[in-house]
Amino acid sequence: MRVAMIGTGYVGLVSGACFADFGHTVTCVDKDARKIEALQAGHIPIFEPGLDRLVETNVREKRLDFTTELTGPVGEADAVFIAVGTPSRRGDGHADLSYVYNSAREIAAAVSGFTVVVTKSTVPVGTGDEVERIIRETRPDADVAVVSNPEFLREGAAIRDFKHPDRIVIGTTDERARQVMTDLYRPLYLNQAPLLFTQRGTAELIKYAANAFLATKITFINELADLCEKVGGDVQEVARGIGLDNRIGAKFLHAGPGYGGSCFPKDTLALIKTAQDHEAPLRIVETVVAVNDQRKRAMARKVASALGGNVRDKTIAVLGLTFKPNTDDMRDAPSIPLVTAFNDMGAKVRAYDPAGMEQAKRDLDGLVTFCGNAYECAEGADALVIVTEWEQFRALDLHRLRSVMNRPVVVDLRNIYRADEMERAGFTYSGIGRAPAEA
Ligand code: UDX
Repeated sequence: MRVAMIGTGYVGLVSGACFADFGHTVTCVDKDARKIEALQAGHIPIFEPGLDRLVETNVREKRLDFTTELTGPVGEADAVFIAVGTPSRRGDGHADLSYVYNSAREIAAAVSGFTVVVTKSTVPVGTGDEVERIIRETRPDADVAVVSNPEFLREGAAIRDFKHPDRIVIGTTDERARQVMTDLYRPLYLNQAPLLFTQRGTAELIKYAANAFLATKITFINELADLCEKVGGDVQEVARGIGLDNRIGAKFLHAGPGYGGSCFPKDTLALIKTAQDHEAPLRIVETVVAVNDQRKRAMARKVASALGGNVRDKTIAVLGLTFKPNTDDMRDAPSIPLVTAFNDMGAKVRAYDPAGMEQAKRDLDGLVTFCGNAYECAEGADALVIVTEWEQFRALDLHRLRSVMNRPVVVDLRNIYRADEMERAGFTYSGIGRAPAEA
């Protein structure tokens, strides 16, 4: 099969490389000439474990290439994927679909022969209908089927998620499109990954519903963590206790500083807007968003109370800035409102992140002293706050850490340490949703 992938962002690049690895011939197209030049020279613009090798192998074996020219690859393709960004529109929170619709226009002008046009970008229900309308308006003679095929890739585990999916959702009722999509995903289909065929609009809804549900699960456990702290429970045991019930499931029940990233915040907001527009408000999701927003500053207050309530002129060391480990992505990272709140409270902030420093320098310019490693970060600090659970923060040399700090206070917003080990090492320690040892 021949594939044209429009957009070489996170989703486009990972999906393009994985389809090439399945044996298809893939051309990734992007308007950004600098990005394409970099990719042609073998530089991967994002941090994703394993992606560099996957790209390199498939380029070498001539199944994958990169271009700024859309016309040729789209003309030859059996399937054209739209994998461009759908950011939150400034002002109203709706998804900005201008990149999707522009791509549809350009694709329409270039297709030849029967072509399946697939929206992979996360888009509100009804977008596929509009993409189809645009294509038919631009090229009434075009022989296309417009399909929705949302992605469920987690940053940091995207290649694994692509190759071992829980399910592949394909929104189409067109028989020829169904065949093309089945052929594209053939290796997974042979591995028994369920292919779920639905109406196009339903597929679009599934993507938003999945993300909103996961965001709800996280927010639920975060609020329970607060209750545990008040009444003396242990949220990790509560999570385990409820997670063993198959109807609930153990995943996405880690209490933390609130969810962030490029998907959950933007997708929950877009779903709320769609639901309001159709007079079927999703009040649970609306509450989730509000609770998650408030949580970041609440975490700053938690740190302040660990320091006796006042952090003016105190030094706070922040470990981890990205919204989760194994990525350099700072989009909607909880660290941003957290660090801002520390600054508002008059504290000095030092920070270290294993991969996100470049991005963070843009988001947190002037608010933070950036450090070269965890120990340098902790130097002279009155409190150390663990914000992102990078592997390298899980086994810090606690004696070394203590010796460089001004006060031995650790606030662990990811529960990666046990209270007893920290207390033995001489720290005043607090995690999330775990009552203090003396309670
Ligand atoms: C998410 C979805 O998982 C993926 O299916 C979708 O396609 C894109 O959005 P991603 O944003 O990469 O993926 O990260 P994910 O691992 O889901 O984490 C999102 C946020 O939730 C992070 O800030 C993370 O720290 C937080 N989280 C996750 C928790 O706080 N607790 C949990 O138990 C799980």
